[in-house]
Amino acid sequence: MDYWQEYITEAAQPSYCCLALIESCFMHCKMCYKWLEDVNIRKPDEPALEQWKQAVSDLALLCKDNKPQINFAGGEPLVREETLVLIEHAQGLGFDTLLATNAFLIDKNKAVEIGRSNLGNISISLDGFRPQTHDFMRGVTGAHEKVLKAIDFIKRFSPQTNIYLNCVICELNMHEIIDLTKWADNDGRINGLGFQALTQPFSTPVEEFWYRNEKYASLWPKDIGKVNETMGQLYSLKLANDFKAPFQILNPANQFRAFKKYFNNPDKFIKKGRCHLDSWAINITPAGQVHLCFNMPSIGNIKSTSIKDMWNSDLARDVRGRIQLCRKNCQAMVNCNFDDSQSYSE
Ligand SMILES: C[S@@+](CC[C@H](N)C(=O)[O-])C[C@H]1O[C@@H](n2cnc3c(N)ncnc32)[C@H](O)[C@@H]1O
Ligand code: SF4
Ligand code: SF4
Repeated sequence: MDYWQEYITEAAQPSYCCLALIESCFMHCKMCYKWLEDVNIRKPDEPALEQWKQAVSDLALLCKDNKPQINFAGGEPLVREETLVLIEHAQGLGFDTLLATNAFLIDKNKAVEIGRSNLGNISISLDGFRPQTHDFMRGVTGAHEKVLKAIDFIKRFSPQTNIYLNCVICELNMHEIIDLTKWADNDGRINGLGFQALTQPFSTPVEEFWYRNEKYASLWPKDIGKVNETMGQLYSLKLANDFKAPFQILNPANQFRAFKKYFNNPDKFIKKGRCHLDSWAINITPAGQVHLCFNMPSIGNIKSTSIKDMWNSDLARDVRGRIQLCRKNCQAMVNCNFDDSQSYSE
């Protein structure tokens, strides 16, 4: 058996799936420019709903032994009515589901619809303890209040859904990260709070030393002493695990040490080993393109090829080879697909 045959057997199943029906948005976040594209435009290359459903069914075939959670992200996924239809379809096939949202569109009716979809988990972005901080980072007055109302609606009308919060750590909120954690712990309705370290703002042209660019100066942490103190506090809080049920900090403790390293030296690759996304993830774009990593070429399109065939194709094998050579502190490495077993935590 040659190396690749052996490899493909090992890579038999992805453990992470992220599906985006839309890449645009209506907020005006400082750390994400997905709002630059008009949220109302439908593109001619978007798969039909039946094709999306087929793709999720294909994924179930590929992952029959151990189905990954499907993360419905974007852009803002609740802009598209199809998102909840697909969530219901995925839940029906035995997948656990997670909806990553800014929560702005969640009113009572939307929460009832979410409840009907059987959504397992919701991850609501909340970037500040102080309403002004969250509203400023999101570029919309009243965004914080909308989050609090959405938590209430979900609790009442979608009781099976676990409620998580997600916060992007940056200069603008560094001083209130611990207050936010204490608030979420005390609230009683929140199942967990996850943190992401600021990476290059989304939908901006890739730049090597982006964090030195004047354009992002308000976002990149300036006071490295404060960074180290805050990451140390999060690390200790996570290890102590002294929270009120059901609350927990979602990141592994080591990720806070890795964040500290990253903020101190953003050019040093966050992992000790190579990138693991060659055999880890399935990411699907609004056009139906499937990527092992968003920064690498597509391995096929759900409109014409089954996910199982793509996953085991020669094209996927070539992309896997390129992924193994990449050393980029991207969103996947630092945040979403952080590898606890191989982090630079010392
Ligand atoms: C792109 S959003 C999509 C879901 C939804 N629109 C939202 O805001 O939650 C996914 C997550 O990425 C986070 N994010 C946005 N910009 C980021 C950046 N530059 N670095 C790290 N995370 C970022 C968001 O806060 C959000 O939690
Ligand atoms: S982070 Fe989410 S809410 Fe903010 S612009 Fe990006 S997609 Fe929209
Ligand atoms: S390190 Fe490179 S190949 Fe791996 S996820 Fe990041 S950009 Fe993709």
